[in-house]
Amino acid sequence: MIRKVTLEELFVHPITQKYVGRSGMAHAISVAEKAFHISINKGVNPDLAVKAGLLHDIGHYEWYQNGEWDFQLYKENDIHAIKGAARAHKLLVRCGENLQNAKAIALAVLLHTDSYLPEGHLQLTPLQKVVAEADEADEEPGGNHHYRQIDSSTALKRIKKLDSNIEKYLKTNHLEQTS
Ligand SMILES: [Fe+2]
Repeated sequence: MIRKVTLEELFVHPITQKYVGRSGMAHAISVAEKAFHISINKGVNPDLAVKAGLLHDIGHYEWYQNGEWDFQLYKENDIHAIKGAARAHKLLVRCGENLQNAKAIALAVLLHTDSYLPEGHLQLTPLQKVVAEADEADEEPGGNHHYRQIDSSTALKRIKKLDSNIEKYLKTNHLEQTS
């Protein structure tokens, strides 16, 4: 086995269930699936891309004002990518992920959006681009993608499918766990 941590192990972890559940599990799984396809088209390690896709919004929290989502307040104060990068990294290390992989995945989470960053020009790595693209492809107007629902048995089935597709790909392409 060339992977130290499966997607399923990350998915079932209470930290993932709590925080990714909060920002939308259906969106997270859909981004992970899109990241799989984009990454193999671009020659990026799908193991890293899919894990970053699943965890990209793990730093989200809610901005409510009088019971309503306040998008302006969110725009001004949001740092979910920063929080998410730290949270994803801690989770990955705790689950036994290779440390170089944990760093690469955390950086892809950190840079999956630039909405919180000062104006400037970022040069993203191929892995970081894959995750940002997969997220963008799944977004719906008004942040509705965060509210899409999925039942837990369907979710687990799709996670297992991703694990087996990643393993198949790595095996056929003789890839080691870091790239
Ligand atoms: Fe997202």
